[in-house]
Amino acid sequence: MPEALVTSRAIQLVRFAASFREAIDIVHVPARAPMAGELQVRNRFCGINGIFDTQIARDAVDYIKLPLPSFTGVEAIGTVEAIGDGVEGFSIGDPVATTRFGGGYRELGIAPASAFVRVPAATADILTLVTTGVSALLALEHIGEVRDGETVAISAAAGGLGHLLVQLALLRGCTVIAVCGGGRKADMLRRLGAHRVVDYRSENLSAVLQAEYPAGLNVALDSVSGGIFDAFLTNMAPHGRLVVSGAAQDLDGKPEIVSAPRIAHSIYYKGVSVRGFMNGLLGDLHPAARERLFKLYADGLIEVVRDDRPFHGIDAIPDAVEWLLSGKSMGKVLVDL
Ligand SMILES: NC(=O)c1ccc[n+]([C@@H]2O[C@H](COP(=O)([O-])OP(=O)(O)OC[C@H]3O[C@@H](n4cnc5c(N)ncnc54)[C@H](OP(=O)(O)O)[C@@H]3O)[C@@H](O)[C@H]2O)c1
Repeated sequence: MPEALVTSRAIQLVRFAASFREAIDIVHVPARAPMAGELQVRNRFCGINGIFDTQIARDAVDYIKLPLPSFTGVEAIGTVEAIGDGVEGFSIGDPVATTRFGGGYRELGIAPASAFVRVPAATADILTLVTTGVSALLALEHIGEVRDGETVAISAAAGGLGHLLVQLALLRGCTVIAVCGGGRKADMLRRLGAHRVVDYRSENLSAVLQAEYPAGLNVALDSVSGGIFDAFLTNMAPHGRLVVSGAAQDLDGKPEIVSAPRIAHSIYYKGVSVRGFMNGLLGDLHPAARERLFKLYADGLIEVVRDDRPFHGIDAIPDAVEWLLSGKSMGKVLVDL
């Protein structure tokens, strides 16, 4: 059998369950040649989105209703291995990435050519820029509408999304307050240049913001929720923008029910806005964002911090998901396929 037709493995969601590991099977995908209009791609790395993966496994994402079984995983990068009839603009060996749901957790991607984008190289760093980097850029600039020199606070700042947000805000000349849990993460954020690192395990975030940033936050980017969201909301500047890109804390159980005056009272005197960020809704902006990130990276202006725990092969994906959920990972978690 030619190499292009050797059976490959992929992760399928086969049941809804409390954890990603319980919800999936690793399946052998029957070999087939790409049909007209399709590309076949040998994946090199996949990116882990453990929080999203777990919500999908629990059938807890309101706007996604998956039939079972479904392939899962969002992002992968690799090289073109076979090309269907009529496909133009790709050659065998080209490095390409996909961010199409279902294309991430598989050794071999086979899908319409429109599901793939050409990238400078099939590396872990480039994959991180294509997905998490694009999210960071659009959350900060398009939804957060950041302006040069503003005061910006970022939660989960040492994570995959967070460490790129920190660097992009610094490049805009912003004063950056980076919030994280743990000394190792705090050291990394100081090395990246964050002006103030708040380790929420040892400092009270709201007290720090009130004492040290009395003029308030122009932009706050939160993916954690809970007390961090509350501290950001309380400490926004006039016309500040609080961007919500996730609620990691609420993954532990049901969303926390709070009893407090309606949010209207927190926002109208100061003209503050609270905005949701969802990268999948901004596809039109992805190509330009990617190109800007590739240039910043090529010019040495941003670095990708990759979590240093090694994960190899498709069997390691559930381990990598659980590692991300442990809260101990730092930078982007990827699996070397
Ligand atoms: N809306 C979008 O389009 C979009 C796009 C990309 C990512 N996201 C979201 O952005 C967040 C960051 O994603 P990422 O993949 O880059 O992850 P990540 O930030 O690398 O990892 C998660 C970090 O969140 C913090 N955290 C707080 N509570 C947690 C909990 N209960 N369980 C796990 N982690 C918790 C931990 O850091 P600390 O302890 O240091 O706070 C942890 O290390 C996620 O919520 C993700 O779903 C959203």
